[in-house]
Amino acid sequence: MKCNLKHVVLGTGFPKSFFYMLISRILFLPVDKNAASKSYEDIYLKLANRIKELIHIPVIFKLGQNFTNPVNLVDQLYNRGISAVVLFNRFYSPDINIDERKITTSEVFSSPAEIRNSLRWVAIISHFVEKIDVAASTGIHDGRDVIKQILAGA
Ligand SMILES: Cc1cc2nc3c(=O)[nH]c(=O)nc-3n(C[C@H](O)[C@H](O)[C@H](O)COP(=O)(O)O)c2cc1C
Repeated sequence: MKCNLKHVVLGTGFPKSFFYMLISRILFLPVDKNAASKSYEDIYLKLANRIKELIHIPVIFKLGQNFTNPVNLVDQLYNRGISAVVLFNRFYSPDINIDERKITTSEVFSSPAEIRNSLRWVAIISHFVEKIDVAASTGIHDGRDVIKQILAGA
């Protein structure tokens, strides 16, 4: 099924169950040179509004790492009824095989060092957006990392 963004935001022709599947995988790659950063964040907010109109179960947004002001975005999601955020999703990234001159996929699995960013933002978001639940993801490789995230506010 071709998933046109306008249709997703407006919900046109999509069964309610579509949104159960959609929720954790949201990624809009900002590639429009004429679009301001805010317009991309607005897509997430419109989506939150629409999903909360359609379904009445707790909704969690699993976010990517590349927002300018995650505190503001998460606060606005909370104001729209989003129950929790997962910080962060980790998307497939490209690499280039220079011998074969082919585009490939970069390392799929995270390394333990990648916890630093999720740990930072779990702490910041749980402090500034107190009422939203925060789940940690990315770079959590053992029990000690789990304890760190809980201490940070997950
Ligand atoms: C092969 C692979 C497939 C994934 N598929 C999904 C997915 O379908 N939906 C999703 O929300 N996250 C997906 N993720 C992201 C993981 O759930 C996780 O949030 C991310 O990898 C960061 O955690 P990690 O450091 O433990 O890898 C995927 C990750 C990998 C490596």
